[in-house]
Amino acid sequence: MNKTILAAILVTVAMLGFTYASIEMAGGLDKFLSGGDWVNMLAILGAVVLVAATTFVVTKYIRQMQNDTVGGKLADENWDGIGEYKNEAPFGWALIYFGTIIWAIWYFLAGYPVNSYSQIGEYNEDTQVHDKKFEAEFAGILKDPEKLNEMGESIFIVQCAPCHGLTADGMGGKAADLHTRISEASVKHVINNGANYLKTSFPGGMPPMLLQDPAQIDAVAKYVANGFKADDVAGKEAFTAGTCNTCHGENGEGMPMVAPKLNAMDADMVAAVLKDGKKGAIGTMPAFTNLTEVQHKAVDAYVASLSKK
Ligand code: HEC
Ligand code: HEC
Repeated sequence: MNKTILAAILVTVAMLGFTYASIEMAGGLDKFLSGGDWVNMLAILGAVVLVAATTFVVTKYIRQMQNDTVGGKLADENWDGIGEYKNEAPFGWALIYFGTIIWAIWYFLAGYPVNSYSQIGEYNEDTQVHDKKFEAEFAGILKDPEKLNEMGESIFIVQCAPCHGLTADGMGGKAADLHTRISEASVKHVINNGANYLKTSFPGGMPPMLLQDPAQIDAVAKYVANGFKADDVAGKEAFTAGTCNTCHGENGEGMPMVAPKLNAMDADMVAAVLKDGKKGAIGTMPAFTNLTEVQHKAVDAYVASLSKK
């Protein structure tokens, strides 16, 4: 008998043997055949058919590889005697080739990325639904400053305290101390480097080097950090000499869309920092985009209230 066919029969018998052994391990053939369990019966039959079909097909191709000789028309070109047959692409192969291209275009444009289920998509949808419910439930809180502050405080403890500290003191310089408007070091940093982080609220930004004389920079920094004291003549003069007041106002009261308030922390400034994030002398403050409208207003109000006490 042909060696290949002999090998095929041996492999088939071995695989059927393994199938039988695994049935025995799972409780024995009897268990499957008694009690009229048709599904299991079909599965066993299917396994036998699969084993037989697989060895049949593989054997057929091995024999073809052993016995077939090539034929067909040779291409005119040859490379050092090595030629190429001009066989047609097999029909099945061409069908799969073009079919795959059409499927890929469908898949890319209309298939998975756009239409199908995704965990992130479901999460986002759920979050939106929850946020809407939350907004509806707490809409009234906007008219109740005390409750709003309470909500702001609890959000602050979770989201902001890890950097700013439970008492919002900045944890020894890790983040901004939110009880004062701003430190001298921060004012100097902004004068020297300029700033353009709060793009949504103040699109123009602040250019660097408006002041260059170190004595003047010191004076202005003290004046701003100490809260615009009228008796600080040198600082006041430098601030209002057309350098800072043109944007920030005579007493640092700020100007909408032009420059933030400097003489106190207000809710607008907090909102601007939360929306865009901020980099300064201390470090980087990340933007907070995951708060709902009501939560935003609550945190803004709470932080603004800290520096008023
Ligand atoms: C062209 C308008 C303009 C001028 C002039 C200007 N500023 Fe500003 N300033 C801004 C803007 C806009 C911001 C917000 C920067 C940002 O987007 O981060 C800012 C931010 C600041 C901040 C930071 C506030 C914070 O909470 O971090 C300080 C302090 C400041 N300015 C001080 C000054 C001083 C002092 C001068 C004068 C030397 C001055 N500014 C001149 C527009 C201006
Ligand atoms: C990852 C740490 C971190 C977290 C979390 C964080 N902050 Fe900040 N925040 C900073 C740092 C650092 C600064 C100082 C940036 C600078 O150098 O000007 C800052 C600055 C600020 C400022 C600006 C102060 C000023 O005078 O310019 C405000 C307002 C603020 N944070 C509010 C908040 C609020 C509200 C939260 C919570 C929703 C929060 N921060 C969460 C690190 C953080």
